[in-house]
Amino acid sequence: MYKRQWVTGIFIVGFLLNSSFALAEHFNGHVNVKVGTLTAAAQKGQLAFNNTCAACHGNNGEGSLQGPPLIHALYNPGHHSNQSFYSAVRNGVQQHHWPYGNMPAQEGVGFSDMAVIVKFVREVQQQNGIVQKKHKM
Ligand code: HEC
Repeated sequence: MYKRQWVTGIFIVGFLLNSSFALAEHFNGHVNVKVGTLTAAAQKGQLAFNNTCAACHGNNGEGSLQGPPLIHALYNPGHHSNQSFYSAVRNGVQQHHWPYGNMPAQEGVGFSDMAVIVKFVREVQQQNGIVQKKHKM
């Protein structure tokens, strides 16, 4: 008689466990971002980043309550290529990895800004030990 409730219950518990594990894994990847010496291009990128992207992605990409950190293992170049950065800025992003909602397209950010922003993010990733890893998800 209670079989159906049990099945539903187990399903819900399984789902909750699963999603909290996935999230815990994301938050474990958190780093206290340090910014070392940057190339001239990356310095320009830092300005552009902190003017537009930092509102959600935090100062220097360390994350905020509005959006995820980009200086994070998840965004290493093997998992999120430079192309995925261009696409995120041009088209926006549907929520899929995090609980922050969608990212709207960033219409004020042109191609040359994008190029230096990506340079900035990659240099800072490297300074914080985030290096290319094969995509295995
Ligand atoms: C209004 C908030 C907001 C702003 C401004 C914003 N983002 Fe995002 N961005 C997000 C959120 C939220 C996500 C996570 C979506 C998810 O995976 O759940 C995200 C995800 C991303 C991703 C990952 C894309 C993917 O394929 O998973 C990249 C790259 C990115 N943002 C780059 C940028 C850059 C560069 C800027 C500045 C030009 C920027 N964002 C500005 C909210 C924002």
